[in-house]
Amino acid sequence: MRTQIGIIGGGPSGLCLARLLSLRGIRSVILERHTRDYVQARIRAGILEQGMVNLLRNAKVSDRMDREGLVHDGIVLTFAGRQERIDLAALTGGQRVMVYGQTELTKDLYDAVLSDDNVAVVFEARDVSPAGFLDGTPRLDYGKDGRLEHVDCDYIAGCDGYHGASRASVPKAMITEYERTYPFGWLGLLSDTPPVHDELVYANHQRGFALCSMRSRARSRYYIQVGLDEQVGAWPDSRFFDEIRRRLPDDVAASMITGPSIEKSIAPLRSFVAEPMRFGRLFLVGDAAHIVPPTGAKGLNLAASDVHYLSTALVAFYGERRTDLLDRYSATALRRIWAAVRFSWWFTSISHKFNDDPIEHKIQLAELDYLMSSTAGRTTIAENYVGLPFEPTFA
Ligand code: FAD
Ligand code: PHB
Repeated sequence: MRTQIGIIGGGPSGLCLARLLSLRGIRSVILERHTRDYVQARIRAGILEQGMVNLLRNAKVSDRMDREGLVHDGIVLTFAGRQERIDLAALTGGQRVMVYGQTELTKDLYDAVLSDDNVAVVFEARDVSPAGFLDGTPRLDYGKDGRLEHVDCDYIAGCDGYHGASRASVPKAMITEYERTYPFGWLGLLSDTPPVHDELVYANHQRGFALCSMRSRARSRYYIQVGLDEQVGAWPDSRFFDEIRRRLPDDVAASMITGPSIEKSIAPLRSFVAEPMRFGRLFLVGDAAHIVPPTGAKGLNLAASDVHYLSTALVAFYGERRTDLLDRYSATALRRIWAAVRFSWWFTSISHKFNDDPIEHKIQLAELDYLMSSTAGRTTIAENYVGLPFEPTFA
């Protein structure tokens, strides 16, 4: 098989890239390890920044999101019994975020891509292996239904997440990896119950962090910080809800409506960046190149800026034979990535329990108290939360 862009991974990054390229007449093949149902069922992100919303509109997959997504103007931070609203819109000149689950967005993208003549998707592709990208003969080898297959292409996009094959195929001497792991994870619970509040609530508490999020007006997503040795099986719903209530202000806890979980899982927290993001004719995109702790809701939104830069660069290459944007992709993407890595690390550091030393919590409370008393403090949270702008000169 021959195509223009060989894409490894049919998650949000790979699907969005294929769709944006197709609208400019560029053909691609996506090799996805799992089935469509498996990819669509993974419960992950829920908050879209304006940049991601714009990208989905440009990709012409936004109709359902624009109908069903919830636009949020603010978030609430709770600590020391206080509830402080950060007015995102007022502090950022009218910018907002959209609540729309990654599961829904992935369904919309598959609906579009699977009826798109410029995109072919191979599900259950085994042992995908990128080759030839350093010597100008890029190809993807893989197994399908017990046979060895390959795709020849002009460029490879590694959109295959943190555990994928693309980053792993780069010679060690060419790549630098920066990593921090955190001594805790998030236990998440999804339930068909109305959210406890009409905006997201981020809680700093002596017992640990908690977050009240949502997927719709009838579906809640809750998280609590837990130790890395915790097992989901040790957390029946009643124990989860008892614990999250203890970490919230009394009136919020009292108004929480609980119901049976429809999903429960533990995610470790990690900061990770691989540099650079281009190796000859291979580009890394999204989680394949970087991971942030979910505290700032940045993971999926960073994938969106990578996809924006790479699709813009490939369109300039095929349309005008320009290679300058392809050359600048890595440095441009990494600038926004490091800004989000910093914010996600910092927001984690002021909201989570790192150890039992009481001075740590007192210092966090002093920092939150200061931030809330200062317009500059509130603005720095708001600007980062709604998402820093894409680089305007990248065109
Ligand atoms: P992925 O979504 O990981 O997609 C990669 C795709 O590649 C997958 O479909 C995978 O099956 C496929 N693949 C992997 N390896 C191969 C291979 N060798 N061959 C072929 N295909 C392959 N972000 C937030 O903003 N908020 C959150 O609450 C949040 N929660 C998260 C919880 C978890 C458990 C995880 C893992 C991530 C979470 N994220 C969250 C991050 C967000 O979901 C990711 O940033 C986003 O999914 C990145 O999209 P992606 O397409 O780059 O990678
Ligand atoms: C979510 O709804 O899953 C979510 C929202 C905000 C975050 C992290 C996760 O910061």
